[in-house]
Amino acid sequence: MLFHMPSRLYFGSGEIKNLKLIIDDYLKARNPVLVTDAGIMKSGLLEKILPQLPGIKVFDQIEANPKSDTINTIAKEMRALTPDLIIGLGGGSPLDAGKALALLCTNEGDIEAYEGREKYKQDPLPFLAIPTTCGTGSEVTWVSVITDVNRKFKMSIKGPKMYPAVSIVDPDLIQTLPPSIIASTGLDALTHAVEAYLSKPATLITDNHAVKAVQLILGALEGAYTDIKNNPTDRENLMFGSTIAGFAFGNSDVTAVHCISESIGALYDIPHGIANSIFLPHVLTYNLPDCYRKMATLARLSGIKDTNDMTASQSFIEMIMDLSKRLHIPQFKDLNIGKDKFDKIAEMSFENNSTPSNPRALEKKDYLRILENAKHT
Ligand SMILES: [Fe+2]
Repeated sequence: MLFHMPSRLYFGSGEIKNLKLIIDDYLKARNPVLVTDAGIMKSGLLEKILPQLPGIKVFDQIEANPKSDTINTIAKEMRALTPDLIIGLGGGSPLDAGKALALLCTNEGDIEAYEGREKYKQDPLPFLAIPTTCGTGSEVTWVSVITDVNRKFKMSIKGPKMYPAVSIVDPDLIQTLPPSIIASTGLDALTHAVEAYLSKPATLITDNHAVKAVQLILGALEGAYTDIKNNPTDRENLMFGSTIAGFAFGNSDVTAVHCISESIGALYDIPHGIANSIFLPHVLTYNLPDCYRKMATLARLSGIKDTNDMTASQSFIEMIMDLSKRLHIPQFKDLNIGKDKFDKIAEMSFENNSTPSNPRALEKKDYLRILENAKHT
């Protein structure tokens, strides 16, 4: 059983104030650059960062579901600056973009050439991750997910040298996050934990992190959604749950929920957390026959008293559906994706590398069934 997480992790309220110290004394970087998005530029969060790094070059063009052409364009400009550290600040998109750019700064060509595992020839630059949402897990994983705009496909670019050198996870950075983003990113984190726990490659070590993450996220999400500003305990529990859910899926895998959400994200630019939130209950329902015993453990840890494993698991799925409703997550029908597109989505989902990790075997026709069921809910 192997567990690998080589990133140096600073966790806690106020940790961001140590950014310069970490860059100077631990990373010994002299020419860092910052990768972020337009939302962060307007959020006020840079006031905690820029005074520590005067004159730093900021690349703020990262979009949701970051695109290969954006990454390739930024890489050309970034290489000319010869940085020695890439800092990613934001949700999953800027963090994944930062990892991809760290790779392209030491390797020639476009990002499409590096799809897959360990395709880089030179080690990527050190990467420092600063998450500002409670869902990505990217701060403790080796993968960067970038949309290939020509193929409309989400590529996974990964390798042991792509883990962040350092992650600073400061729950105060989500203090001003809008409720809708808390809901979608928090449910993305819950999906990471539940999928990691039920996935075929799960181990005792990943289970330990996944179970704790489910408890923390379910215990904190609604409180954070209602009033994150005045709720430091829920902020901390949500961020910690999200990070250790990253430990779990980074060393086991995600399952069919992410296979569908990555397909829909690539085709329609649907936010990742929303797509996961919509499909989590439907994939769990499909998976029930093959993992209801394990799912019942999650049910009981979530307060469901039922001693019958099957009905306890069904109650757990209903609980997640009810939670999504209370958090005002849209339903599949709200995304306006026509039935004629289901075949393509099912095909792409089936081809996703994580399909074999799903606890119940599934083929393209099974993905079609899950999509049909979701449409009618
Ligand atoms: Fe995710």
